[in-house]
Amino acid sequence: MNLSGKKIVVGISGGIAAYKCAELVRRLKDQQCEVKVVMTESAKHFITPLTMQAVSGEPVSDSLLDPSAEAAMGHIEFAKWADLILIAPATSNIIAKMATGIADDLLTTLVLATPAKVAIAPAMNQQMFAHPATQRNLETLASDGVAIWGPGQGEQACGDIGKGRMLEPNELVEQCTSALLPAEQPLLGKVITITAGPTREALDPVRYITNHSSGKMGYGLAEAAKMLGATVNLISGPVKLNPPTDIHVSHVNSAIEMRDEALRLASESDVFIGCAAVADYRAADIAEQKIKKQGDAMTITLVKNPDIIAEVAALTAKRPYTVGFAAETQNVEQYALGKLKNKNLDMICANDVSQAGLGFNSDNNALTLFWQEEQVSLPTSNKNELALTVVKAIASKLD
Ligand code: PMT
Repeated sequence: MNLSGKKIVVGISGGIAAYKCAELVRRLKDQQCEVKVVMTESAKHFITPLTMQAVSGEPVSDSLLDPSAEAAMGHIEFAKWADLILIAPATSNIIAKMATGIADDLLTTLVLATPAKVAIAPAMNQQMFAHPATQRNLETLASDGVAIWGPGQGEQACGDIGKGRMLEPNELVEQCTSALLPAEQPLLGKVITITAGPTREALDPVRYITNHSSGKMGYGLAEAAKMLGATVNLISGPVKLNPPTDIHVSHVNSAIEMRDEALRLASESDVFIGCAAVADYRAADIAEQKIKKQGDAMTITLVKNPDIIAEVAALTAKRPYTVGFAAETQNVEQYALGKLKNKNLDMICANDVSQAGLGFNSDNNALTLFWQEEQVSLPTSNKNELALTVVKAIASKLD
């Protein structure tokens, strides 16, 4: 599914996150849509029109009063051309102007003149975002039908930590896709529970055993399932991702906590997807105090964790369609098929995690989907796109 034939205006206002717009436009162009860039005067302090022209392959528009630009495509015509105007980053200033209908430059004028969908990706200091004036303006925009995408939470350019980061380019592309493509919803009425991220197995109050799972694959599956109409439960190990909206998220740490939550939700679910990288073992005893250094070597006794997905697949009363993941560094097909059989799964998605840039803690992945009688290879792609293909494949197998 791509955005081929769709027309998007990327409107850049003057915030530090403007530097991400080159990547945003490239990712949109990857989707084969037409992109035109409009910049405010202050945006040009953060990223040059030349850069944006190079990545969009189109001249950048920045002035309402430029006779040659108006002769080529007048601003009303421009406003009618778009299927979507996305303002990213949207500063508190442009949000305030939009909320009051001020049209004092090309971008704010286009917003008033367009019949197209308008979306903003707010980006600003967390204090500015939390300010009642900004919140009031955002409420006004939301009630005017403007889509508000983000902001995310985290460390900001100014050093503050909080809500105000612009969503990442790939998240914005995903939002554009859901906004512009007709929503096929084969999972409407279905409940899907997904595990994501690593588990943390404590050794003492300050140390634990874990792995490199970032949660990106599992969170991508959750978004894809939501996009296809499902009610989604996400059981997340400790990750640094923004909690998704309209998805019920249970935060857990250890495999035991994940198992308890999985079994609670699985019997109410039509589908269970185990994408989490669950630690196979945990410490036999968790020390109550920090373990002190002792000699040149030490031994930690580990005991086996429960196999969560195998327990779900063994449910007899209300067993969901059960999908596992297999992270392998060798003999990928053989090991994946072994897990499909031994854990009694309906489907398994195998990833070769020995390949650089794929699998754990990366934006991309490549998967082979196995059923008892069938297999499909999905070449390297962004995890969110792969997730959509995987969830569609699951949907096609449900009654
Ligand atoms: O999180 P990312 O950085 O995006 O990376 C994605 C990923 C590489 C973690 C993901 O694509 C993936 O492969 N997840 C499964 C990793 C894993 O633990 O595989 P496994 O082969 O060890 O386990 C097989 C299956 O059993 C998995 O569905 C796993 O969730 C499940 N399992 C494993 C152990 C256990 N105790 N309980 C389980 O339920």
